[in-house]
This record gives sequence, C-alpha cells and structure tokens, in this order.
Amino acid sequence: MTIQLPDNPARSDVLSARPTLWANPLYAADAIDDPSLPVMPSDVDEAQASWTRLAPLLETCFPELAATNGAIRSELVELQSLRDALGYAGPEFGTVFVKADSALPVAGSIKARGGVYEVFFFAEQLARLEGLLKDGEDIRRLAEQDAKAFFSRYTIAVGSTGNLGLSVGIAARALGFKATVHMSSDAKAWKVERLTRLGVEVVQHEADYTTAVENARLVAESDPTIYFVDDEQSKHLFLGYSVAALELAEQLQARGIVVDAEHPLFLYLPCGIGGAPGGAAYGARKVFGANVHCFFVEPVQSPCALVHMMSGAEDLVSVYDVGLTNKTEADGMAVARMSAFVATVMCRMLAGIFTVDDASLFRWLRLAHETQNIRLEPSASAGFAGPEFVVKHPEGRAFCAKWKIEDHLAQATHIVWTTGGSFVPQEQFEAFLETAAKLD
Ligand SMILES: Cc1ncc(COP(=O)(O)O)c(C=O)c1O
Repeated sequence: MTIQLPDNPARSDVLSARPTLWANPLYAADAIDDPSLPVMPSDVDEAQASWTRLAPLLETCFPELAATNGAIRSELVELQSLRDALGYAGPEFGTVFVKADSALPVAGSIKARGGVYEVFFFAEQLARLEGLLKDGEDIRRLAEQDAKAFFSRYTIAVGSTGNLGLSVGIAARALGFKATVHMSSDAKAWKVERLTRLGVEVVQHEADYTTAVENARLVAESDPTIYFVDDEQSKHLFLGYSVAALELAEQLQARGIVVDAEHPLFLYLPCGIGGAPGGAAYGARKVFGANVHCFFVEPVQSPCALVHMMSGAEDLVSVYDVGLTNKTEADGMAVARMSAFVATVMCRMLAGIFTVDDASLFRWLRLAHETQNIRLEPSASAGFAGPEFVVKHPEGRAFCAKWKIEDHLAQATHIVWTTGGSFVPQEQFEAFLETAAKLD
C-alpha cells in the first residue's frame, strides 16, 4: 500500500526522514470530554486505586519498593548543567525537568508502569475468580508458595521490542507465572539474556514489532491458559501508565510549580506503539486540563504515530506505506504501526509530534551522562529536542501563537520524559558512549 500524506508544512521533512515538528490540526482543549472515547478520566482514578491496593503485594515481591511502600515512582530532576549543554540556558526556555522513568525500579523503564500493572492486576482478578483470594484477605497472600504454584499453571505472553517484555517477564516470574516474550528483530541481546536468566521463554522473530505481536496473539488465542498482554489494544497497560501524571502533579506541587494558562506545561514523550506516551498524556490532560501540551517524539525512520495521525485515515497507516524503513538504534521506538486504541484516544488530545535522528539520540545520551550522571538508552533521550522545537521551530512558534502561550514561555515548564536506561549493562552503555564520541 502506498499512501499520500496530505499537504502540511511537515510533510516533506517526514517523507525525507528529516527531523521536524508536526502540530496536530485537530488538537482541541476539550478533547478529553468526548464521551465516545474508549477511556474515561475516572478510569485513571480507578487505576490509581488499583495500584494502591496492589502496593503491599508489589513490595513483598520487589523489596526495592520498601522505601515507597510498594509504589513504582520516578524522580523529577531539574536540569542544571545539562540545560546549558543542551543550549536551553536562555529565559525563553522557562524551566526544564527530566521525569526520570529511566531509573524506575523493577524494570528500569517506563514499561514498569504499564507492564507490571497489567500483570499484577490480572493476577489479582484471576485469584479472586478462582477463590484463591477472598474478600478482605491480605493481598500479600498472592506471594505465598501455594499461590505461586497456582499461577504457574498459566502463561503470560507479550510481544515486545525489549522493555515491555522485560517488565512483563519480571512481573510474571515474580508471581510464579510462566512467561513468553515474542521479541522483534530490533530487540537488544542484553534484554533477551536478562529475560532468559529469569526463566522467561524468549521467541525471537526475524521480523518487526507488528509481526511479533501478531504471532504472540495467535499463539495465545489457541490456549486458554495463556494471558496475552496486548500492546496494540490493552486498556490496562494504558491506564497503568496514565497514573504517572498524578505522581507528576504531586511533584510539581511539592516544588511550588504552578500550571495554569499563564504557566503552561509541556511534556515530551518518546513514542513506539503509543501506549506509554499515550497513557501518560491522557493522565496529564485529566490532571492539568488544557494547560498541558503533550508532544510525542519518534525516530525519523519510525514515525508511526506521526504518519498515521497526519494522514487522517481511518485505517492505520504504517511507516512503510510512506516509504520509510523503520530502521533505528532506538529499539523501544522501532515500531512501524501505532496502536489503533491510542490513535483514537489521542486524535484531538495530542498537541503534536516531532522527530529526531539517531545521531542526536546518542549525543544527548552522552551529554546527560556527562553533565548530570543520568543513564539513558537511545530511545529514552529523544525528548530532549522538545523545548527547541516548541520555542524555536516555525511550527512550534505558530503553535504557541495559536494557543496564546507565546507570551508565557518564560514561565513555562518543560518536562523531558526519559523512558529507560538504568538496566543497560555497563559494557553496552560504554558502547553507546563510544558511538556518541565518534559523532564529534
Ligand atoms: C525506552 C522506551 N521509551 C519509549 C517506548 C515507547 O513506548 P510505547 O511503545 O508504549 O509507545 C519504549 C517502548 O518499548 C521504550 O522501551
């Protein structure tokens, strides 16, 4: 299939794989109020309540969560020396933070929010259904030996470019489930090795992510003992991520940072299939309303959300449909076709999408390490382009003018969501730094 993208200032950049910014023409202040969407703002509160209910079990399974009473949280880090190194020292860039999901406990990436949530949520539902957990009983019961034996009769399956597989595999094994991860050809060897060591069956496909997910779904459909975590459609994954926005709101408030019409908030979220950034963006719109502007960021060769949303088509458009290759070192974002569920929800809620080249990812990864000792993988550094695009790019300026925020940029808060990296083995991390050094 070949698709013609509509006329748009970003069109030729997208087709030529040049970094660019696309502002969503359908962006609307009240998008979250649309009752036809498959998710509601109150779902975020329910997901928060589920996280709270599951917390004692999470703490039992993962002792590293003792300090947060079972919550999986990340720090909000203000940019200091890194801000200068990135060229964001000027007052027009307001305040810039990193939301450091790169150091999230349990799975070392933003996927800890979605994957761990869905597995633990499923375990609780299954245990209640089968009479293993009675009303009023302590949820930590699900970490006992007989519960593990019970869960071992089931398999959790997932398709992944790497990090979702890690988070689902780690969560599943902690409860005693069997786990199968279908990896795309982009998956890095260290992620495969780590899962294999945990006793997870890894099926490596010589194909892209979409194909890996399709295969995983097919296998699961034929076996009732397999629970499939469906990255293309799962509402649980989405809601697991969405709760991050409540955490962010608390952190901003604790720092006395106001978000209102004169103090806009910008989020820059690396996007693969769209679940993680979509969930965080949805939660943010629920919490901050129209005063938060969420942008996805994608590699120049894998802008699946960009090509689909720009096309305006009903059926999903993939990056192959417009002649791009889906080849990138940013394994977490090497996705050719976005989630239809996320496309529907984000249609009028997403401010825009920008693209970045691989060389920039490595440069930012190195800068973050050298200046503020932040450890990232390539996908996770993509958001650093955000402030430059919004404040300086012609499309960013037009966006700020349209939404009447151009006079408030000095009071704006920019949040670069760094989505993974703390689990990267030292040798692999040094290889990233070497790649970056060769670019100079
Ligand atoms: C580090 C990192 N960032 C961002 C993403 C994108 O998440 P999603 O595929 O849900 O859009 C991924 C996905 O695996 C990832 O591993």
